[in-house]
Amino acid sequence: MDLYEALEGRRSIRKYTADPVPDETLQKLLQAARLAPSWKNGQCWRFIVVRDPSRKQQLSASLPDGNPCKRAIAEAPVVIVLCADPHASGHQDGKDYYLLDAGLAMQQLMLAAHAEGLGTCWVALFDEAAARPACHVPEPYRIVALTPLGVPAHQPSPRPRRELKEIVFAEEWGKPLE
Ligand SMILES: Cc1cc2nc3c(=O)[nH]c(=O)nc-3n(C[C@H](O)[C@H](O)[C@H](O)COP(=O)(O)O)c2cc1C
Repeated sequence: MDLYEALEGRRSIRKYTADPVPDETLQKLLQAARLAPSWKNGQCWRFIVVRDPSRKQQLSASLPDGNPCKRAIAEAPVVIVLCADPHASGHQDGKDYYLLDAGLAMQQLMLAAHAEGLGTCWVALFDEAAARPACHVPEPYRIVALTPLGVPAHQPSPRPRRELKEIVFAEEWGKPLE
């Protein structure tokens, strides 16, 4: 799949079939994540691949009931737990770049998953203290996000995006790009 096709076609997937994710495919996705850029190439990220139903259940329980991905975390064949060490990345003017490093790697994994016909959904709304023991994540690592991973059981319509003219300026703030 062409990169632009993947960018256009990816959706947050919140329902999965029970089909397993082959190990070779999983390896390809993790390789894609590994290639992401990072602060001084610090590669502060770590990924935990979870297939065990009781761990997935524990991770799902760390999401509030209103989180639309709660069932998917329990039921998808795989959950990826995205961890990062804040000390292995940079801080500049109050900005913590470990979140960006980890997010870039996750996005690469998500696009690669879509190219392989698999779905993902970034999940950030969860209780980190409740998720941590499910996979024995040690300090100082933070759990940045979770994603279910598997064969999509639905094809959501695209969510709206702001028009370019609203988000892009030319030369200075507020000046439209012609
Ligand atoms: C930082 C971040 C946190 C998110 N957290 C959640 C979440 O906790 N639960 C959920 O169902 N979706 C979550 N999402 C998915 C967004 O709702 C989704 O990306 C957005 O609605 C656009 O839809 P799309 O991904 O299908 O284009 C999150 C996305 C991002 C980038």
